[in-house]
Amino acid sequence: MMTLGSQRPVVLAMIHLAIAFGLLVGGSAAAADRSGKEVVNSVCASCHGEGKDGAPRIGNTADWAPRAKFGLPRLLHSSMEGLRKMPAHGGKAAVTDLEMTRAIAYMVSGGKTPDPQKPYAKVAHGSGEDIVNAACGNCHREGVGGAPKIGDKEAWLPRLPKGVAELVASAIHGHNKMPARGGFSNLSDIDIHAAVSYMLTQSLTRK
Ligand code: HEC
Ligand code: HEC
Repeated sequence: MMTLGSQRPVVLAMIHLAIAFGLLVGGSAAAADRSGKEVVNSVCASCHGEGKDGAPRIGNTADWAPRAKFGLPRLLHSSMEGLRKMPAHGGKAAVTDLEMTRAIAYMVSGGKTPDPQKPYAKVAHGSGEDIVNAACGNCHREGVGGAPKIGDKEAWLPRLPKGVAELVASAIHGHNKMPARGGFSNLSDIDIHAAVSYMLTQSLTRK
């Protein structure tokens, strides 16, 4: 039987590995990601079908050309952040980055994307620390509504076995009183990943 003390370095090494691995496979929540077509039909078509409020219409080259010429990363950025009457993430915070890129590729091409499952582009906004300060700290510093507190190892350890990717996924989609993306629908999956990694590092690598 090992004592708890001698296990600590092993546990810490596992946590570091989990965080590093989670970063590498940040898109591993992808198993649940929907196709561009599904997302467009369920979320985007209500505006992009008929061109409500000037939304570029699905598959309409004339509508898309002046926007698409700036490249997919720019389209992705503005549709995640929101642009005038276009709400961030199409108004559904739980739509993932990958689903957004697929949906855009589907709309711009009118469903003729060469590979509808391909991840096309990624956006990030700030460091994990910046994002936590701006969007997560309000609840996670004091433990509002039962939020696991930053720096409280006991609060985080029982959540770790599901893996970093799952924790990120539940922060993206929302989980009980945890709102999707903490209620900041303009954050990307990469931002959420950075924020979760930061909170874990702050919480688990302290004694
Ligand atoms: C509530 C209506 C609405 C919904 C829902 C909506 N959009 Fe939009 N979208 C707009 C409008 C309006 C514009 C034009 C904004 C402008 O340029 O003023 C737009 C523009 C865009 C652009 C062009 C951005 C640019 O940089 O020119 C993209 C890309 C886009 N939407 C993607 C999406 C995706 C993907 C979805 C679904 C996940 C979606 N939209 C859902 C209304 C909507
Ligand atoms: C409005 C308050 C609030 C905000 C803002 C908030 N959280 Fe949470 N969060 C919670 C609560 C409450 C829980 C506990 C939910 C539960 O497990 O029942 C939680 C749980 C979590 C979990 C654990 C999920 C799991 O599956 O165990 C993660 C990860 C997380 N939040 C990440 C974030 C990130 C990242 C941000 C900032 C982008 C954020 N939260 C912003 C309230 C919040």
